[in-house]
Amino acid sequence: IETRLGGGPLSGRHVIVTSGPTHEPIDPVRYIANRSSGAQGSAIAAALRDLGARVSFVTGPATAAPPQGVDVIAVETAQQMLDAVETALPADAAVFAAAVADWRVTGAAAQKMKKGPAGLPQLALAENPDILAAVSAKGADRPSLVVGFAAETENVIEHATAKRLRKGCDWIVANDVSEGTGIMGGTENAVTLISADGAEAWPRDSKAAVARKLAQRIADHLSAGQA
Ligand code: CTP
Ligand code: CA
Repeated sequence: IETRLGGGPLSGRHVIVTSGPTHEPIDPVRYIANRSSGAQGSAIAAALRDLGARVSFVTGPATAAPPQGVDVIAVETAQQMLDAVETALPADAAVFAAAVADWRVTGAAAQKMKKGPAGLPQLALAENPDILAAVSAKGADRPSLVVGFAAETENVIEHATAKRLRKGCDWIVANDVSEGTGIMGGTENAVTLISADGAEAWPRDSKAAVARKLAQRIADHLSAGQA
């Protein structure tokens, strides 16, 4: 049931959400990627939509379906994701939930690479553009709220706090994806919201509930800024 007609705290607002992995081709049939279902990103886009936002949903090849009622921009590589985000600007807020591949293969083969007597392929890597850092560093075009994610396997708060400063974003949603938490690929998430005010641990809940809470925080922040 749609409750956003004519209202919602984010009506008239534009929010960009990145989601899913990126795929960096090695050859036409192989790629490098991070593990990401896209479930948390899809849930965030749906929650922002439910509060009335216009959502540009820039997604890599995720397994989770994109939500209805958002503008879906499907991409494959990190470079394409950056281009799509820049095209979607300006925005009031941007949430970077994608698991972007840190490296791409330079000189990806145009034809399928074959096994053979020539031995193992040598892959040369180059670092991908950092989409979150690039948007955080924008001037007039910078969204007033930029939110990054930090999936860590150890020293979560420490790494995520450093990441917030390094990237220049306003908030980091940090989570512990180490083995045994069951968060990677699961339906639940346990996150800590890191801002200039410090770290706030949220109780473990469904990815949908975490998304609703984050969307509400974004709405509160934007309306406070307007006052
Ligand atoms: N991110 C991005 N573009 C990249 C890499 C990361 O936009 N090329 C964003 C992610 O979407 C996430 C945040 O940056 O919101 C943190 O990603 P993460 O991989 O944890 O950060 P990195 O700086 O790549 O650090 P690490 O070495 O821990 O992977
Ligand atoms: Ca990374």
